[in-house]
Amino acid sequence: MKKLLDEVKVSSVKADYPRIVVSPPGPKARKIIELDQKWASPSYIKEYPFVMAGGQGAMAEDIDGNRYIDFMSGIAVSSTGYNHPEIVRAVQEAAAKFLHICGTDFYYEAMAKLLEKLGNIAPMKEKCRVFLANSGTEAVEGAVKLARSHTKRSNLIAFEGAFHGRSYAAISLTASKVKYRANFGPLLPGVYHLPFDNPYRMDEGAALEAAERLFHGRVSPKEIAAVIMEPVQGEGGYVFPRPEFLKAWRKICDENGILLIFDEIQSGVGRTGKWWASEHFGVEPDILLSAKGLGSGLPIGAIIAKESVMTWPRGSHGTTFGGNPVACASALKTLELIEDRYMKNASEMGERILKGLLKLKEKHSLIGDVRGIGLMIGLELVKDRKTKKPAHQEMGQLEQEAFKRGLLLLGCGDSTIRIAPPLVLNAYDVDQGLEILDVCLSEIENKA
Ligand SMILES: Cc1ncc(COP(=O)(O)O)c(C=O)c1O
Repeated sequence: MKKLLDEVKVSSVKADYPRIVVSPPGPKARKIIELDQKWASPSYIKEYPFVMAGGQGAMAEDIDGNRYIDFMSGIAVSSTGYNHPEIVRAVQEAAAKFLHICGTDFYYEAMAKLLEKLGNIAPMKEKCRVFLANSGTEAVEGAVKLARSHTKRSNLIAFEGAFHGRSYAAISLTASKVKYRANFGPLLPGVYHLPFDNPYRMDEGAALEAAERLFHGRVSPKEIAAVIMEPVQGEGGYVFPRPEFLKAWRKICDENGILLIFDEIQSGVGRTGKWWASEHFGVEPDILLSAKGLGSGLPIGAIIAKESVMTWPRGSHGTTFGGNPVACASALKTLELIEDRYMKNASEMGERILKGLLKLKEKHSLIGDVRGIGLMIGLELVKDRKTKKPAHQEMGQLEQEAFKRGLLLLGCGDSTIRIAPPLVLNAYDVDQGLEILDVCLSEIENKA
């Protein structure tokens, strides 16, 4: 691996991947898996037996020397790819200075600069303020507290198919899979779930009719603190709503003093070719949440809110580790690289993938829908294009088949493959990945 790192540059990785030198999991991988399985909490999922050892750009290498093209970036996190030299340098330099002092109580340059940067790239016209957390779920948790504290109301609206994390407020808002909530109750009271617009599966306006029914019969909109929404649903299936859906919710919020929170933890930080996916819809939130790709892999999350909304008093919310100096340094460098190079690359490579997938759709009847912006692309598999019955089992097979051939995939929703590669991937990566997808889809269709 060291030799490879010396040889290659992020933008011109040598084409010695994908390669499978030993059928995965190889002997070294099996050892690690055995150790892990002996001690790990049984709640971990482990999609397939990939044991990471290193990587470069959009290539991930396992412990037995197999090299994969990564179409999922550890769930949309490794935004600048693996071992980006500038990220590594920024992290090393920060680590060599100091690892901790606690940003809740004291000051340091990287934190102040990151607050400023996030405030400047926020999609709101009004000046914003920023709170730094350790993760997505912690940002969600804080946003719920902020919304309640600001509005002095307690009820919340979230959406079917939403995923907001695994802490108590977050699972109360989550409704993508029941396993995230089962047996963990009682959850937060006062959470109402409404349908999320899905152009592939729902008629226009149907999702909004449910909102009208809610306000007519169950709760007054004047008692709602916040509506929390992923502008593009991630875990729920890479679902892109019609812009009118977001616009209608903005209007409902404005008319009733409700805060609109956009959870851009998966969709943000340049992945869609703009800083935030919501910018493609032309709708501004009051509060925006970020995490995942923000730190290129180091844990960091952010609550970005309009100054007029971030009114909670001194000492009411804080964190020991949130905005850790090393994570801040990584995030600052990540934002710089994405702004300079990779946001544009996300648009260009996203178009290349979309075109390729649409071609594959002509060939493979298993593909029901292809949708995406930038490098946030959903490939929805169906048993039958007329009934649109989700091909859940085939989604799992596709993950496994691709893994055997050197491509890392990850499913979401009932039967959608989420294509969320590092924003650094190049045309070679795209074309190789599409070729493997083609072979795997043929294999699955032939078996059926
Ligand atoms: C949209 C969204 N919100 C929140 C979260 C939770 O983030 P974390 O896993 O960092 O707690 C996720 C994670 O997948 C997410 O996709």
